[in-house]
Amino acid sequence: MDKRFKRTLITSALPYANGPVHIGHLAGVYVPADIYARYLRLKGEEVLFIGGSDEHGVPITIKAKAEGVTPQDIVDRYHNIIKASFEKLGISFDVYGRTTSATHRRVASDFFKRLYDKGEFIEKTSEQLYDEEAKQFLADRYVTGTCPHCGNEGAYGDQCEKCGTSLNATDLINPRSAITGNVPVLKETSHWYLPLDKWEPALREWILEGHKEWKSNVYGQCKSWLDMGLQPRAVSRDLDWGIPVPVEGAEGKVLYVWFDAPIGYISNTIDCVGDDWERWWKDPETKMIHFIGKDNIVFHCIVFPSMLMADGTYNLPENVPANEFLNLEDDKISTSRNWAVWLHEYLEELPERQDELRYVLTANAPETKDNNFTWRDFQSRVNSELVAVYGNFVNRAVVLVNKYYGGEVPSRGVLTAEDESMMAEVRESVTRLSECLDNYKFREGLKEAMNVARIGNKYLADSEPWKLYKTDPERVKTILNLAIQLCAQLSVVFEPFTPFSSAKIAEALGLPEMKWSMAGDFDLVPAGRHIAQLPLLFEKIEDSVVEAQVQKLLDTKKANELKAWQPESVKADVAFDEFEKMDIRIGRVTDCKKVKKSKKLLQFSIDDGMGGRTILSGIAAYYEPEELIGKNICFVANFAPRVMMGIESQGMILSAVNPDGSLRVITPEGDLTPGSIIG
Ligand code: MF3
Ligand code: ZN
Repeated sequence: MDKRFKRTLITSALPYANGPVHIGHLAGVYVPADIYARYLRLKGEEVLFIGGSDEHGVPITIKAKAEGVTPQDIVDRYHNIIKASFEKLGISFDVYGRTTSATHRRVASDFFKRLYDKGEFIEKTSEQLYDEEAKQFLADRYVTGTCPHCGNEGAYGDQCEKCGTSLNATDLINPRSAITGNVPVLKETSHWYLPLDKWEPALREWILEGHKEWKSNVYGQCKSWLDMGLQPRAVSRDLDWGIPVPVEGAEGKVLYVWFDAPIGYISNTIDCVGDDWERWWKDPETKMIHFIGKDNIVFHCIVFPSMLMADGTYNLPENVPANEFLNLEDDKISTSRNWAVWLHEYLEELPERQDELRYVLTANAPETKDNNFTWRDFQSRVNSELVAVYGNFVNRAVVLVNKYYGGEVPSRGVLTAEDESMMAEVRESVTRLSECLDNYKFREGLKEAMNVARIGNKYLADSEPWKLYKTDPERVKTILNLAIQLCAQLSVVFEPFTPFSSAKIAEALGLPEMKWSMAGDFDLVPAGRHIAQLPLLFEKIEDSVVEAQVQKLLDTKKANELKAWQPESVKADVAFDEFEKMDIRIGRVTDCKKVKKSKKLLQFSIDDGMGGRTILSGIAAYYEPEELIGKNICFVANFAPRVMMGIESQGMILSAVNPDGSLRVITPEGDLTPGSIIG
């Protein structure tokens, strides 16, 4: 470890306790954080790995209202589901706390009070949206409306999920109350603001000058926030769910969820280590690393550090290795559309397959760009990597030792050049692996771990002990001794990634406590030790398992499309001048073909009466491209161009959805000239 530091505090974003966690959370945050924590522990470093639930915020109260229960009921339910499922997946938190705990309430409240007393806040009165019927201010997600940046009609008062812009509720066009559907009015209210602008120079210096080594996605996002110029940010809300603002006259006001949640890292540390907590937060020899998803970057790199600087006694994070997003079967993971693989369901439906999920999510981790999880890829990685490479090597070595020597590890004789070169290759791979893990490159690190297993397989395949057994028994002893040493090392190098299998190997080989220094060491299992037969490390994923999971997702899709027939799908009235903005026209399909690597898209060449254009449409599942050639269709001609699969789509073809979810393009009645205007 970097000489400046003696210990590492690892935090992982506190998931909102308003739903279970899914594979996107895992791949982005919890699996990488756990790999890192386990790796450092193996190296004998002092580590504290903090987790917990984020139990405040508007969505929790909305969900409670919808279900007719209290917010506390909601967070109790999901906190327990989340905590149990993390545990089962082997996420090795030293503490998994919650932001409704008494400790957190006190710590967050004191934190605010300290900043308040130091004069670090600005108190400001402004006009905020208010629902006169519900008699309530509409914070954050209590308002929906049209995004001023991208026109998405379902944007929330704190963020537009379409374009990712973070918003103020008052920025929304045509705002509506999420409680009553009413048009809100403006009403004065006062709040406390943290002047981020005050910290801008310090943040610039610290990040832009001091942390050029941060991942480019993180550094880039910070730079663009800083270059836009920071504004004071409200840290309180008019709500009845949250930690009360500890100031006289602040009745009915609570701390903004993004103010209290990161303080949760501190409270959970206190719940874990008691009075010793300050060593973890204030001693400059402690290195703090935040594991988060990309939507949390601004809070962990700008807002929380400003809070810590305003206090003045805390360390700032040393790194924030934020990940991008994981998609599921080419579609954005979405809680509201139930488009997700939920961890607690996975653990039930694929029991004892924790390592398989950890493995595939790491192999596909969205470290540098958004990535995709598909069940087919899951199956193929498990079968052709975990089973065929890692599992196969370990099983072969153990089986041969049992077959030839009754399970007793043979002693080894003089090493050959082949042995030496195998050993050297392993050590080089381990060196690269350590370097990857030190630099948060878990995906590449996993490849190196798998490479060690590949080296083992190649060694056995090249040296063919099963052929030599009759002719050169001494040589076979050496080969199998080394193979067993390699199994022992595999249990170490894979421990951060797939700890359950590592524990099985360690037990069968009778290994003492695992240490990272064992990787590359070929004297781990003494000759003469009796090793147990090992149950299969990994089993193949059958087609039927994958098909059942894919079917489950198809059912979800269908259910979502059926919702189109429910009354809430009827949209609000549109004025004529709004409608008139649409340029809808007739086009003739001159060519139509499948888009490579996409199951959904067809690529159309359209005669639009204006020289022709290309349009992509997600209807490949419902048509053979040839069927459409020569047809007249309707398309939106002024739909902003979008690039999909590397192709620019210059418009949108109109189709209708049937109750079964199938799509049909709209074709005009009678003969119409391409380019004819519809309206
Ligand atoms: N609950 C937030 C989310 O899921 C993350 C909170 S991280 C913390 O996006 F630092 F605030 F705790
Ligand atoms: Zn938007």
